[in-house]
Amino acid sequence: NDLRPIRSPRGIPLLGNTPQIPDTNPVEYFGKLSKQFPEGIYGMDIAGIEQVFVYDPDLVAEVSDETRFFKQIDKTPLHHLRDFAGAGLFTAHQHEEEWGRAHRILLPAFSQRAMRGYFGQMLEIAQNLVGKWERREGKPVKITDDYTRLTLDTIALSGFGYRFESFDKEELHPFLNAMLGALTESMRRSQELPMMTRLRKADAKKYGENIQVMRELVESVIKERREGKGSAEDDLLGLMLEATDPETGKRLDVDNVRDQVLTFLIAGHETTSGLLSFATYSLMRNPHVLAQAYAEVDRLLPGDTVPDYDTIMKLDVIPRILEETLRLWAPIPLIAKAPIDDTVIGGRYALKKGTRVSILEGPLHTHPKAWDRPEEFDIDRWLPENRAKQHPHAYKPFGNGVRACIGRQFALTEARLALTLVLQKFKFSDTTDYNMDVREALTRKPGDFELVVRRRLEHE
Ligand code: HEM
Repeated sequence: NDLRPIRSPRGIPLLGNTPQIPDTNPVEYFGKLSKQFPEGIYGMDIAGIEQVFVYDPDLVAEVSDETRFFKQIDKTPLHHLRDFAGAGLFTAHQHEEEWGRAHRILLPAFSQRAMRGYFGQMLEIAQNLVGKWERREGKPVKITDDYTRLTLDTIALSGFGYRFESFDKEELHPFLNAMLGALTESMRRSQELPMMTRLRKADAKKYGENIQVMRELVESVIKERREGKGSAEDDLLGLMLEATDPETGKRLDVDNVRDQVLTFLIAGHETTSGLLSFATYSLMRNPHVLAQAYAEVDRLLPGDTVPDYDTIMKLDVIPRILEETLRLWAPIPLIAKAPIDDTVIGGRYALKKGTRVSILEGPLHTHPKAWDRPEEFDIDRWLPENRAKQHPHAYKPFGNGVRACIGRQFALTEARLALTLVLQKFKFSDTTDYNMDVREALTRKPGDFELVVRRRLEHE
């Protein structure tokens, strides 16, 4: 019998580890704790729930085996997200009929081929971003906020034919504040005892109001379509309203369409905005990589050449920058799984059926077993010859298996295009010498990240 206990940081009687967990950036804290447990696994008792964290690539390989582990919703923030995302794709239980139905109906809309169809809308919104920055010449811009405007407007226009017109306004759209409030509250609820949640009456009221703001927006998106406004019928919304599931012949229920629209508005922009922000930050910190990126953009798109889909697909440096950014700054820093039955991983750690097992992306993506000079931003890791040598389970920015990100190609196409256009037009200076200040709210992004933007002149 080779079983060993899963070690834990010391807790407090009755309260376990709950009081140790900070209100802000809990996942960053879980990442720091990982350094104390080089075996690649540790456990904690949080709000009365036993949780296990894994980041050794070989243990993660086992947790990624879908015959043994499933995507956990209960006992995670996703359970609370269901207050507003219901049985949308992201928060649906694997056994819910809604998951399979929506997955089969929407999958064709996310193939690489389908991306060509969204390119026009992606370009239009990316040009809005460029227009705004040209008007801000020489002034500081809030990088993360503007990438959030970009990604929100892009998913709304290409998925739903709906225009947020975020670049016309000084303030961020009220939808975003409501979303941030609701995400933060659901995170908090997942880390405290239900008794504590019930005591916070004012927060509960605000939570209800934020959900209402988001629902109303979704309803207006659907109403515009029903009234024949907006664009293409074969976009995401068209499929959600009209298409039938090839397996069961059924359509999505009305309530489920609402939950899916909200799910895609959130999942479809938060993460990509984080990716672009972290990529821009990484380029500022790595001037030799920035120089390679400028060289690629100038070679493929000299002067003011407008990018087309085929050119974007020919890029090599920019996609490697995005991959390396997702390694060091995965916007979704934790994914939750659970064993289908009692099991043992690594030949020694026993896990009971249903235990919450979280994969910590940060520690996994920098695990010394899988990565040389793990903290170094090195885009050459992603050259084909080096990629082939990588550990197969040491990189999971888009999750795992059937529950992996459906929007991956969408995100990467959009981010390639946006970064290309921005580099074609601008140079940046970090006049405040920005220090990375990560903000977690389910996803993570750099907080208060500002840079001064200037147009690039000929031969610069
Ligand atoms: C699922 C990451 C962009 C829609 C996921 C998951 C991850 C992820 C890690 C799995 C979560 C889990 O296991 O709990 C990312 C990253 C993105 C990105 C890093 C950008 C860089 C997008 C975009 C869309 C999208 C652009 C939509 C257009 C979804 C949906 C799911 C999902 C609907 C749930 C899929 C399912 O369970 O069936 N994403 N995502 N994501 N993502 Fe993304």
